[in-house]
Amino acid sequence: MSEPILSIRGLTKTYKGGTRALDGVDLSINRGEIFALLGPNGAGKTTLIGAVCGLVRPTSGTMTAFGHDLSRDWRRARARIGLVPQELATDMFETVWRAVAYSQGLFGKPYDPARLGEILKSLSLWDKKDAQIRALSGGMKRRVLIAKALAHDPELLFLDEPTAGVDVELRKDMWQQIAALKERGVTIILTTHYIEEAEEMADRVGIIQGGRILMVDEKRAMMERLGTTEAVIDLAAPLAALPPEIAAFPVELADGGTRLIYRGGNGEGGGRADVAQLAQALTRAGVAFTSLDIHDSSLEDIFVGLLGGKEAA
Ligand SMILES: Nc1ncnc2c1ncn2[C@@H]1O[C@H](COP(=O)(O)OP(=O)(O)O)[C@@H](O)[C@H]1O
Ligand SMILES: [Mg+2]
Repeated sequence: MSEPILSIRGLTKTYKGGTRALDGVDLSINRGEIFALLGPNGAGKTTLIGAVCGLVRPTSGTMTAFGHDLSRDWRRARARIGLVPQELATDMFETVWRAVAYSQGLFGKPYDPARLGEILKSLSLWDKKDAQIRALSGGMKRRVLIAKALAHDPELLFLDEPTAGVDVELRKDMWQQIAALKERGVTIILTTHYIEEAEEMADRVGIIQGGRILMVDEKRAMMERLGTTEAVIDLAAPLAALPPEIAAFPVELADGGTRLIYRGGNGEGGGRADVAQLAQALTRAGVAFTSLDIHDSSLEDIFVGLLGGKEAA
């Protein structure tokens, strides 16, 4: 395992006024991955990004990026980090080209029109390079933010709620752009409060709430570890009791014996293989069924279960 590209230990942030936005965050990000930081509004996502990008001064903790201690060697590390902020805070009267060129210079890169051209083309912004940002559609404006963040060729890119408040089509477009960046070797940390986004994009997911990371795992492993499979089997004729052939399965009879409900499948193989075995056992026991519906729990179910309805996000 190579050294993490970013390593955060014991990070806390208490704002003036006493809000503890981060409460002992430990996090390691691997080179080349897409990491989704998933949490409700106010969880501390933007504060965490701000701390790494030098916009928020941490109260305590250490951060290492590319092997450099961020508190000592901030400038060198920051030059390799890009940030697509949550808010569209950019000069609306500036042209696309000038705005992106300005960002290129911000972290000490020499003006490189060829590279700027490549970036704008890759984001389908080339035609708009001389347009004022205010004249662009919402989707194009977001692409300008990405172009600005990419102008100094960062190896680590933060996207803070890249699709908050955008329509479904634009969201899919943004996902494609992010996937393309990963293809080019950029390590990506995105924050989101959309479970669907984490599920779609991420290699690993960290769940944050109240300034604490509740869990971090590979997306698949998280779903396998916490996920369950539910199967509803409609029987051809009602049963008075469970036949002994299926007693070992996590099933119960419902709806006056006309239905079997299966709930299980944590761990290896998931529940689907288990449900297939159950179907065979039913057949062996001579129990006919008319339909079988399987539903795997999504990251959304997991999230709701973890937060336990503590807070409606
Ligand atoms: N500049 C600030 N001053 C005081 N409190 C803040 C400031 N920024 C954020 N907070 C508070 O810190 C907590 C975390 O906020 P934030 O990091 O923006 O969460 P998220 O991005 O997950 O929605 C919230 O309670 C928020 O109100
Ligand atoms: Mg935020």
